[in-house]
Amino acid sequence: MQDNERLFSKINVVTYLTYTFNSFKVAKFCSNYLNYELVDIHNLDLTKSINNIILVFPIHSEDAPNIIKEVVSKINSKRMIIIATFGRINHGNTIYRLKHRFNLPLVGASYFPTKHSYLKEDKFIPRYEVLIPLLNKINSDKYIDIPNEKSTLGYNIFPKLRARLGIKIIKKDKCNNCNICGDNCFNKAINKGIINKNCIRCLRCISLCPSNNLDYKMNKVLRLYLRKQRKNKPVIYL
Ligand SMILES: Cc1cc2nc3c(=O)[nH]c(=O)nc-3n(C[C@H](O)[C@H](O)[C@H](O)COP(=O)(O)O)c2cc1C
Ligand code: SF4
Ligand code: SF4
Repeated sequence: MQDNERLFSKINVVTYLTYTFNSFKVAKFCSNYLNYELVDIHNLDLTKSINNIILVFPIHSEDAPNIIKEVVSKINSKRMIIIATFGRINHGNTIYRLKHRFNLPLVGASYFPTKHSYLKEDKFIPRYEVLIPLLNKINSDKYIDIPNEKSTLGYNIFPKLRARLGIKIIKKDKCNNCNICGDNCFNKAINKGIINKNCIRCLRCISLCPSNNLDYKMNKVLRLYLRKQRKNKPVIYL
């Protein structure tokens, strides 16, 4: 390849947002299968010209997290596949809304069921291989639409407040102030185990505390809500 060709050549990439690592595992599977570079969305270089992109992220309160909306508004790729992971309660209309708001060049998409971030006892094992027909579409020039589905009534009513009221994060006695929690929180919402008002209850800090010194409690309403019947089947749009 000549130098100027290399300069203008477009990249193919799998990018992901993850808090409790379910979406990371999906993204890793996609990157291994397609042999595409795997990039945390916080490190995605938007100045590079992108050919194909696979975007993997978790659904929070039946919607895409804000950083996903910010980044997709700036991505200028030829083709895109979205894989939105969810805890098998409700995926709402997340992908439809993103596609229509940002006019995304979708050649495929999936609502992909995973273990729920809030359920320690959830032993669900995702079947990554069902994503293969979707990933095989990445070079297709047939763009797709997504059906406009219903969200749960009230999905957009103060989702942050609902999460805050539903989950209490507890620092345990043996915290050694290493601040790994603070260094890894995307929202600058915790310092040495003490959370502040920016916390979105994603539970990343709990997954990353090396000495298991953070825990959480759910209130009754959330616990009951999370008992809802599970949607275990992936939804795939080709
Ligand atoms: C704040 C928050 C809100 C969530 N909202 C939903 C939801 O509306 N529906 C659902 O089925 N799962 C929901 N989940 C579960 C996650 O979507 C699911 O566990 C996802 O795979 C987490 O991905 P991650 O491990 O990559 O962060 C929520 C999780 C969190 C932390
Ligand atoms: S990562 Fe755990 S041990 Fe370290 S400061 Fe945070 S809560 Fe304490
Ligand atoms: S402090 Fe809140 S926002 Fe930050 S990682 Fe922990 S749960 Fe997530």
